[in-house]
Amino acid sequence: MKTKALFLGCLFIAASLSAQPQLNENNIAAVVKAMSAEEKALLVVGFNSACEGYDPGLPGTGGLTHPFPKYGIPSVVLMDGPVGVRLEADWHDGLGEAHFTTCFPTGLLVAASWDRETAFQMGRGIGEETLDMGGDVILGPGMNLLRNPLNGRNFEYFSEDPVLSGSIAAAYINGVQETGAGTSAKHFAANSQETNRLDGDSRMDTRTLRELYTRGFEICLRESAPWTVMASYNLLNGVYTQESYGLLTGILRKDFGYKGLVVTDWTGKRNTPLQVHAGSDLFMGGAYSQTEHILASLEDGSLQMKDLDRAVTKVLELVVKSVSFRKPDFEPSLRPDLEGHAALARAAAAEGMVLLRNNGALPLTPGKTALFGVHSYDLIPGGNGAAYVSCPYVIQLNDALKEAGFSIDPGLEALYKGYAAFADADLTLNHKVNVHVGKPQKGELEITRSLIEKAEKEADVAVITLGRISGEARDRILGREFLLQEPEVDLLENVCEVFHAAGKKVVVVLNICGVVETASWNYLPDAILCAWLPGEEGGHSIADVLTGKVNPSGRLPMTFPLDYFDMAGAEDFPYNFVSDRANESVVHPERRGLDPKNLNYTDYTEGIYVGYRHFLTRGLDVAYPFGYGLSYTSFEYSAPTVQQKGDRIIASVTVTNTGSVAGKEAVGLYVHAPLGNFADKPERELRAFGKTRLLQPGESQVVELSFPVRDLASFRSSLSRWETARGTYTVYFGADCRKPEASLPLKLSTGRNYSVTRACEPK
Ligand code: BGC
Repeated sequence: MKTKALFLGCLFIAASLSAQPQLNENNIAAVVKAMSAEEKALLVVGFNSACEGYDPGLPGTGGLTHPFPKYGIPSVVLMDGPVGVRLEADWHDGLGEAHFTTCFPTGLLVAASWDRETAFQMGRGIGEETLDMGGDVILGPGMNLLRNPLNGRNFEYFSEDPVLSGSIAAAYINGVQETGAGTSAKHFAANSQETNRLDGDSRMDTRTLRELYTRGFEICLRESAPWTVMASYNLLNGVYTQESYGLLTGILRKDFGYKGLVVTDWTGKRNTPLQVHAGSDLFMGGAYSQTEHILASLEDGSLQMKDLDRAVTKVLELVVKSVSFRKPDFEPSLRPDLEGHAALARAAAAEGMVLLRNNGALPLTPGKTALFGVHSYDLIPGGNGAAYVSCPYVIQLNDALKEAGFSIDPGLEALYKGYAAFADADLTLNHKVNVHVGKPQKGELEITRSLIEKAEKEADVAVITLGRISGEARDRILGREFLLQEPEVDLLENVCEVFHAAGKKVVVVLNICGVVETASWNYLPDAILCAWLPGEEGGHSIADVLTGKVNPSGRLPMTFPLDYFDMAGAEDFPYNFVSDRANESVVHPERRGLDPKNLNYTDYTEGIYVGYRHFLTRGLDVAYPFGYGLSYTSFEYSAPTVQQKGDRIIASVTVTNTGSVAGKEAVGLYVHAPLGNFADKPERELRAFGKTRLLQPGESQVVELSFPVRDLASFRSSLSRWETARGTYTVYFGADCRKPEASLPLKLSTGRNYSVTRACEPK
């Protein structure tokens, strides 16, 4: 009897299942048609803890989409991103086994490699790990423009230049997506500060928006096809980006031709029906109230079913691409290739380190080393927030140098290791640590002059590591985090004095999340290596560069100013807003006696003059320019060519290694444009870049660079039109924006104009 009932029950289920279309690549429209309004309104809102059967997958998972077994629709699993797959720290499975993913070097370092292949390979490693951990989409790359050096998330992002950002992002995306995982290019757009990030309004003219803040995304979409684009938290000219029809439908879909899905950054605080209409398709993290709001708006006519159907279609298009859909029996292994990817992380990190100064100190030959600075023993591999990766281990610089044949002063080693352990315990005890803001910076240990003198007696060379960490939801503070602190300055001065008096060299390693002030001290040490936040293999990568095993070839993806206030728009950033409260929303600052400027709204008064565009045009000195970086060898440029071929500019230059060791050279192509109808233009702008292979001494390579003619255009806000001026341009070759190695004139006899959607205008 029981068996019969079960049999009949199964028949009934089978009949009702077969009555519904089962999702496949070719019947999305039929599934959309079959779904009820309720089902649609559930599908577009993230599957969350209010939903029956919710299982977030691995702890740390960013979010899931709603499954509908009756249509054969599984959940799509979205994981952070972007520098590795984020799991909850110290997560153990049911059997008590800890699982880890690779902590790759952070975005800034990848951009500093000026190497698409590095970004591609790293993307591929992250894509593989996403699938291994049961994910479908990695929530990266983060590609907001570095408007200001104090943005807490700069370490995740790429550059102050949209060409470098866009192309490196595209290479990362192509790498991830080659594995079968998807990506999310984030955060669209103008999400340039973390302070009041949920409610701050980025205000700018449309020339600035088009030439800088959406330009990186435009280039990225030309060179890759990310499955998703993430709409940011902030407002843009008075409208939340997630509610902006002009931004999401006008600029992103119509002008850039984007065909994928728009996912919202993780807030439920917006007007959901308005978001649907604007072009947002998937609402994460997701709250049931959003589903209810959509249904009520359909009912009262304020939301049209065709808009919801568009969003549902985009979600289903994402579903059919996902591994969760394509391999319903795909079991995540939870075991990424940690060894193989560690080697990848080590090579990638060395590729993006930038040698800022070298007064004959580097490369080092193995010897006795006095290793100063707490971060020599407690390296910062990455930043905090969504980009935090719980890595299996971190290679420390002291250990890596020992492996490379150096001996490390044992007294200093014991002292610093003890201090690092103490500082960790103290921070855990006395600060509310959370994954967003993370642990505060460890202060540098104050050590006495006599200890330095003692160490000098036993050492051939001194190495000092200085560190800076940052994370999501808080910007860095000028006085506390951009400038060196007293113990750091004392350490630098004393070590340099003592070692130099004995005729010995001092090397500084910067283990930093972003720009720090260097001009007041950079003449003291003999060498400075900018190692960024280099991931779990960081110690090895730094040692590889210090010893010359790898010849440094990284170039700065942003300017290091002499002084913070030299930057245009320096005052238009919350550079002194001190708050450690993650995600603090400061909607009514005046009620707390705070100035709403830079909290409620930030005026991008500098316009297009961000970073090198400002410094070059105004002829201002900097500490280190955009594109700067030294090598252990030298290169010569010859035989530059440039011509217009149809709608592209094709250029080439021969690069020869004229030094005595093998090395790679990053090559930038900058253009100086005639004014045309414009009153002002930047002195020079990066239009293309590339990198040589490893060139042996005496070896040459012809580096070919090309870009569409229309990239030469400037944006005329009043007409919402890109205008390409006729006349003579100058094309410069060389990575350092201040030091062209070769140049040529380029004559354009026909100037073309392109009108685009009028959107996102300031109020
Ligand atoms: C971050 C995103 C991240 C998301 C999911 C948000 O707070 O801004 O970058 O992908 O959380 O964790």
